[in-house]
Amino acid sequence: TLIQRGPDAVLRMILRKPSHERTSDDLETIYEELLHIRALSHLSNSIKRELASAVVFEAHPKAGSVLFHQGDEGRSWYIILRGSVDVVIHGKGTVTTLQEGDDFGKLALINDAPRAATIVLRENNCHFLRVDKDNFNRTCRDVEANTVRLKEHGKDVLILEKISPQQKQAFSHFKYTVMAGTPQKIIDSPSQDREFVLACKRRVVQFVYRWVTTIRQPVFDDESAVDFLEDLAGEVENDCIQLSALQEEASLMHHAMTQLRRYQEDRKAHSGQRWKLPPCGQPISLFSGSKESRTIIMPQDDIIFRVYCADHTYCTLRLAVDSTAETIKLCAADKLKLRPNDELLLVEVKSNGERVTFKDNDISIPTALSLNGRIFVSPKDHLDALTCLSEQEESTQGIDADLELFSTKELAYHMTLFDWDLFWCVHEYELLYHTFGRHHFGQITANLDVFLRRFNELQFWVVTEICMTTSLSKRVAILRKFIKLAAYCKEYQNLNAFCAIVMGLSNMAISRLSLTWEKLPSKFRKLYTEFESLIDPSRNHRSYRVSVSKLQPPIVPFMPLLLKDMTFTHEGNKTSLDGLVNFEKMHMLAQTLRTIRFCRSRHLVLDPPSPKSEGEVKSYISCLRVIDNQRILTGMSQKLEPRRS
Ligand code: CMP
Repeated sequence: TLIQRGPDAVLRMILRKPSHERTSDDLETIYEELLHIRALSHLSNSIKRELASAVVFEAHPKAGSVLFHQGDEGRSWYIILRGSVDVVIHGKGTVTTLQEGDDFGKLALINDAPRAATIVLRENNCHFLRVDKDNFNRTCRDVEANTVRLKEHGKDVLILEKISPQQKQAFSHFKYTVMAGTPQKIIDSPSQDREFVLACKRRVVQFVYRWVTTIRQPVFDDESAVDFLEDLAGEVENDCIQLSALQEEASLMHHAMTQLRRYQEDRKAHSGQRWKLPPCGQPISLFSGSKESRTIIMPQDDIIFRVYCADHTYCTLRLAVDSTAETIKLCAADKLKLRPNDELLLVEVKSNGERVTFKDNDISIPTALSLNGRIFVSPKDHLDALTCLSEQEESTQGIDADLELFSTKELAYHMTLFDWDLFWCVHEYELLYHTFGRHHFGQITANLDVFLRRFNELQFWVVTEICMTTSLSKRVAILRKFIKLAAYCKEYQNLNAFCAIVMGLSNMAISRLSLTWEKLPSKFRKLYTEFESLIDPSRNHRSYRVSVSKLQPPIVPFMPLLLKDMTFTHEGNKTSLDGLVNFEKMHMLAQTLRTIRFCRSRHLVLDPPSPKSEGEVKSYISCLRVIDNQRILTGMSQKLEPRRS
């Protein structure tokens, strides 16, 4: 071809013709030229053919002239054929320089927003290809790059990605979503125009309002967030009075502030709750007891718990839930009169003898213990000498009652109410703290800990009860009862308890009891096989996920799976990439939080079964007897049914 690089006189002449006057040879010439332009390399050839009739040539002789200003309406998209331009932003100056082969001006077109920057020519005699808005929309708006990348000073500051058609519903009218960006760039407002600024302010207030009403407690507890809310409320009120605009937003802020005040008064009235971690593994309970429904554990609440020494002497401490391991260590050392110059460690000793050392800045420690775990303090070089207490190998002191006397439905009903209360107290943010590590935030995860602990408790309760039943016929009856209990929990949509029971039944110590399973009526065996397939972890727990997706709230979800999803997302994705917040990761994590919100979006209202022994059932399920040492459980199981040779 005639044209190898850059626009020569012939090409320029052709490009200056109005598109209806371009001959097919002309279009071919332009098309050939477009094939060599870097900014278009991702577009298909058929689009380049269409562009050949749409592009217009534009030349500017003088360096320093402005192509358009930040805040202007966006009318065209540009490709640099020759020369270079500066991208200039109010208050920042030149943020980047674009060269031959680069393009600009797309952002305003795809987002229907004002120009985000001013474009200034850096040299004399710059040449551009221009595609006007209508042509841009017609030819390439829908197939334009999936990703928009903006740079400042050589570094990416914002990455937008096209939303796929399925996702579009969730984001309604937005075509692009932020994948990554610096915090500042994400909230930048490109214009000084009054209407535009007001529209931005409306969006900010509406967003903040939704954030506050969804998140509540952690926002209200955070001093800087409260300062921010107060400032924002003041600003919005000012705008309301001075510009007589934003009335609706002012009333939203007023509503948010009323909620804040109410929360603060409530906090004051309930300050200093006292929780008790009983020495023997039972659920953490409010010290004053007698409360009908549970209250949320707050960071400044006190918790009463024991700390042991190597010789099994102990002291009892009462400290705030958010005390660090270091504080606990110092208080315990003081009370136990340990020599202060020894380097001390705070350790959990589990019932199987396993030791886990706490980092000094870890918090929320008593609530995060394993079921029958105990806190020990020990000099560093005596760590290996720590042994568990004999009581840790025994069952926790639950209420000794004959399970068979309770109605299964009544048990399931009260278990579901109990679990629902625990689930209700878990804040969405606790999952984030748990995933990223609570010591990074200095935030407790006590309510989540208690809920997870309940899951383990139910699971080991099932194993313990069966292993403690020596008579074969009674064991068969109890096995039946647990399968029925799982069925009722499933019916009540308490999937946390359902999974705990079924996992308990599939524990090695139970599954090996072949005499017991053989005597189980086939109807129950079939039901159990069905349940087992629901908790089958293969294909990423597909069968559980499919069956849950068909349910309507209220649901008590299988919490360990939600946490597993979050951990997987967290470990597989960086939180920031080259200084940009990785929004894609945040969107993925938010998906799990949305699931939780969905599960609780309707209050639990169940038809109570006819009460037979309501009081006994309630106190029984709140205090289960549990052995959580697998070796001991397996030993008991072997005694019950020695392996037949
Ligand atoms: P638009 O907002 O239409 O007009 C200004 C253009 O400058 C913008 O589209 C982008 O294509 C381009 N640009 C390049 N880098 C940046 C940046 N860091 N910030 C804003 N705009 C940029």
